[in-house]
Amino acid sequence: MQQNTRPDSRGFVARASIEAISPYIAGKPIEETAREYGLDVKDIVKLASNENPLGMPQSAVDAALAAATGANRYPDGNARLFRDAVARRHGVSPDWVIAGNGSDEILSLAARLVLAPGLRCIYSQYSFSVYELSAQECGAECVEVPARDFAVDLEGILAAADSSARLIYITNPNNPTGYALTREALEDFMNRVPGEVLVVLDEAYADFLPEALQFDSIELVRRHPNLMVTRTFSKAYGLAGLRAGYGVAHAPVIEMMNRIRPPFNMNLIAQAAAAASLEDREFLARVRAVNREGLERLEAFFEARGVNYLKSCANFMLVQTGPQTAELYTELLRRGVIVRPVKSYGLDDWMRISVGTARELDRFFKAYDEARAALDARAS
Ligand SMILES: Cc1ncc(COP(=O)(O)O)c(C=O)c1O
Repeated sequence: MQQNTRPDSRGFVARASIEAISPYIAGKPIEETAREYGLDVKDIVKLASNENPLGMPQSAVDAALAAATGANRYPDGNARLFRDAVARRHGVSPDWVIAGNGSDEILSLAARLVLAPGLRCIYSQYSFSVYELSAQECGAECVEVPARDFAVDLEGILAAADSSARLIYITNPNNPTGYALTREALEDFMNRVPGEVLVVLDEAYADFLPEALQFDSIELVRRHPNLMVTRTFSKAYGLAGLRAGYGVAHAPVIEMMNRIRPPFNMNLIAQAAAAASLEDREFLARVRAVNREGLERLEAFFEARGVNYLKSCANFMLVQTGPQTAELYTELLRRGVIVRPVKSYGLDDWMRISVGTARELDRFFKAYDEARAALDARAS
């Protein structure tokens, strides 16, 4: 790879691998939408970032407020109480757990742990953009394996795992398709993947899996020292703004990762709130029920209109909104509803809609029909 040698007009020399990175595109913020469309922040419905529409669990609010008064002190750099809570939940030793400033920090640490120029990182088409970004930062070769009818092609990923492969990211269930893999398929994959390849199984949305597809992935970690499972508190646990996530793997993987982890990466408030929310089974049950109901309503809505969608195992749905997707997105914004265009995934004709509360979905359904009617009127 060509290296930059001279400062450019910006007066510094960035690594060539960083020049090649396209920045992460996040869901459009509520405040920005309000400003641009002259709307009241309170009237905006955001269904763009797969956040939890029920808010934070009260248990986490209480823990966060109590912790905030001690924020003049550094947090515990080892996040001991938080990691103990995670370890108890999964029946592993705390030295099998690493805490992250969101799970995307762990995804990125995994890349930094094993990748370098000349080495290969593999992931499926239609997967979370942070995988590519993290691998690119390390100057590694990124191999995106084509999906099969939108599903992850595990055989294709295995075929791409040559002697230079060091990292594979697998998402279950996947964002943005919402598709899930079975335990059997993942087990077979782990039995066949070369032992020197670190496999990161990203379970950001695992709490939303239908019961029939839920399984104890930590059991797989126990049997495979090259497997790490990552989880987040941003989705089912409602703590996206606090940034809390973790990874579970054999102690030697965690120990090496800790060497490159920023010393106080998980803040004091996030540690307390995440530990509290992990114990709040009642909140999680409510979140799952609201999500199931919302997915059913979205399915019925699009079916009634003859619009194609992918049946989702997560808290969002990918919908084939057709060639006018960009215009539809803007019409929805005008009506105070933010969804997520997925053009950056190569899905120009689709949009991703996060599941909201019943009231939020009512707003979305009304705005969608109005926006479609406005586009039809314009075309005729
Ligand atoms: C598949 C997937 N993994 C990981 C994350 C990162 O979550 P966080 O960094 O908030 O924990 C997301 C967030 O959208 C995601 O979609």
